[in-house]
Amino acid sequence: AFQQRVFSGMQPTGNLHLGNYLGALVNWVRMQNTHECIYCVVDMHAITMWQDPAALKGAIREVTAAYLAAGLDPNKSIVFNQSKVPEHAELGWVVNCVARLGWLNRMTQFKEKAGKDRENASVGLYDYPCLMAADILVYRATHVPVGEDQKQHLELTRDVAQKFNNDFKPQIEAAGFLDGFFPLTEPVIQGPATRVMSLRDGTKKMSKSDASDYARINLTDDADAIAQKVRKAKTDPEPLPSEPKGLDGRPEAENLVGIYAALADQPVAAVLAEFGGGQFSAFKTALADLAVTKLSPLNGEMRRLLGDPGYVDAVLKDGAERARVIASETMNHVKDIVGL
Ligand code: ADP
Ligand code: NA
Repeated sequence: AFQQRVFSGMQPTGNLHLGNYLGALVNWVRMQNTHECIYCVVDMHAITMWQDPAALKGAIREVTAAYLAAGLDPNKSIVFNQSKVPEHAELGWVVNCVARLGWLNRMTQFKEKAGKDRENASVGLYDYPCLMAADILVYRATHVPVGEDQKQHLELTRDVAQKFNNDFKPQIEAAGFLDGFFPLTEPVIQGPATRVMSLRDGTKKMSKSDASDYARINLTDDADAIAQKVRKAKTDPEPLPSEPKGLDGRPEAENLVGIYAALADQPVAAVLAEFGGGQFSAFKTALADLAVTKLSPLNGEMRRLLGDPGYVDAVLKDGAERARVIASETMNHVKDIVGL
């Protein structure tokens, strides 16, 4: 049996947004009470697409500040950035040699992120799921809390673990691991909103990489910005329905009601019982007020932390040291098992 352990990460490629918060971060905070947790700022994933170096350094601190402000407690959990633990890259190479080209060819996120000019995408962007598998497996993590968009990458992680366990079965057993070396990691996709959509297009997920800043609510947005973005959010001309099935085929309305329900910690039916039949404008005002109320303490704490970069850096340094103890032990076993 494997010791239960949680791992997850976010890319420092810009501000964290409401999707990251409701889809992942809220769950991460919750799981600290029941599990050993390791939370990473995946900076090496960020450079799979061009990043301005000075901005990247700032973004690593910003994401860390958002983690802490949202409630990650460095005394309970390990909080660190990926590039400071070289075993991620080291195991990443072994994963590259276990994973099959056909597996990567099926990944839909690469197709979305590479766009039309696929020949000009970085090799790293293509290989991203292998590094992600290594991030998880280097801690032999059993649970990974993520948003819905990461489901396919986690399936690949399981495939890598399973193939490694099969390919090296005799060596793994000889080393004393009778249940296989890597656990078959389970995704935990159960945040209050596992797929928050863009405010400008109800068919696209809210993302850091969306060109329009009006598409997302950032955790750093002030009250005015939040109110303006909610007011400008795309809707259809119909009033809100009074029951959830009335949201079918109305992705923008469904998204906004879902965000309200997640922030208020209420079922969608309860939100519609209150706002159904009414005009969108009144609902939007209530949604903006709720978002401001929920996000402003987080926002204030983030600002305070960003005013104390020495503290943030110290958290990351301490986290990296603790992470490395686990990662280097895994890597020593992996090398022995593989014959390196
Ligand atoms: P982004 O896609 O915005 O660049 P990341 O790839 O760094 O964000 O994802 C960090 C975490 O946030 C992952 O667990 C991912 O599943 C989750 N996440 C990202 N966008 C959303 C969204 N729109 N709704 C729910 N969860 C999301
Ligand atoms: Na993502």
